[in-house]
Amino acid sequence: MSLRRLDIAHFRNLDAVRLQPCAGINLIIGDNGAGKTSILEAISVLSTGRSFRATRTPAIINFEQEAYTLFAEVFNALAEHQQIVPVGISRNRQSEQQIRVAGQQARSASQLAELLPVQVINSDSFQLLEGSPKVRRQFVDWGVFHVEHQFFNIWQSSQKALKQRNKLLKYGKMHGSEQLDIWDEALSRYADQVDRLRADYIAMLVPEFESTLAELAFSGEVSLSYYRGWDKHTACLDVLRQNREKDWALGFTQSGPHRADLRIRVNKLPAVDVLSRGQQKLVVCALLLAQGRLMQKLTGKQSIYLVDDLPAELDSEHRNYLCQVLETMQCQVFITSVEADALTDCWSASTPMTMFHVKHGQLDHTPGSDTSR
Ligand SMILES: Nc1ncnc2c1ncn2[C@@H]1O[C@H](COP(=O)(O)OP(=O)(O)O)[C@@H](O)[C@H]1O
Ligand SMILES: [Mg+2]
Repeated sequence: MSLRRLDIAHFRNLDAVRLQPCAGINLIIGDNGAGKTSILEAISVLSTGRSFRATRTPAIINFEQEAYTLFAEVFNALAEHQQIVPVGISRNRQSEQQIRVAGQQARSASQLAELLPVQVINSDSFQLLEGSPKVRRQFVDWGVFHVEHQFFNIWQSSQKALKQRNKLLKYGKMHGSEQLDIWDEALSRYADQVDRLRADYIAMLVPEFESTLAELAFSGEVSLSYYRGWDKHTACLDVLRQNREKDWALGFTQSGPHRADLRIRVNKLPAVDVLSRGQQKLVVCALLLAQGRLMQKLTGKQSIYLVDDLPAELDSEHRNYLCQVLETMQCQVFITSVEADALTDCWSASTPMTMFHVKHGQLDHTPGSDTSR
């Protein structure tokens, strides 16, 4: 998957910007506050319906406008017909959203996500190590979603069952345990399926992660292990029954697939407590790259990588290794930087590369500004 064209309107300080990215490396260069991160943010909104800066919609819409609009032509190399798919999303100050995929109104943002897998490498990526299990669960589920077609519906059903069970625990004591039996069974049925898909996925991800980490010249061992959210020797249904009294008292479900985690450890300790900041960065890059590689292997689908402010994050040696891995993946990459120099020499001459200069929310079209090869 890659973007052939991207139109951004009324999004942060980008009033009307049109990019024609290449299928390889796209460098976005500009001063602080020029609008570089906003371009990456626009791509991620197109992919997920949400911003990676986790802000409310009014913060994203240009201060002087009522709505933002994003439009792109997505090149789908896997499609037999209609390889170019137009997609668009707009949202107004009331948070009303319109999504269109291939000329049709889309039901939900998951349709965008399926078509346009995007991975973001930025300073928030550290959350994979230092954040709550939720961040790692979302990471795992992103991967499973893209390689297992059935996952989304099963996961949604497990969420619904959990919600109903929690509602009953909180407000429904008068209904007694008969009602709870129903939701125990529903939740545990979907929990087992979610668990199996996650476990299978992580088993495939681990070797991919280890080889990618080695390619990034990380020395040492980092272990990934999966915690499914309840005791590994006991069936989910039994755990729910055993926990019933406590769950009634607390008013929510303590154990289940909503508590799953991907434990990332060094010498049996959480990696975040042991590794240097630079080492942590390599580990999170390896995780995000490994996911893209695995998806490519299993489905042929390629992820788009958005890398925000690369030079600030890694020293030049490791930056080169990262660039080499991205290059071998032959996917579309958008990288921002204040200086072009640090990034132009990292690529072999055969890799397509385009450079965009951003200035005060506009692309600088002065001769020699946008260079392609
Ligand atoms: N809703 C908005 N409307 C207009 N400008 C905004 C809005 N939100 C942020 N900005 C401004 O957009 C500019 C671009 O920010 P950003 O993309 O983060 O810059 P860069 O990554 O190039 O340093 C900043 O100057 C910021 O103040
Ligand atoms: Mg920025």
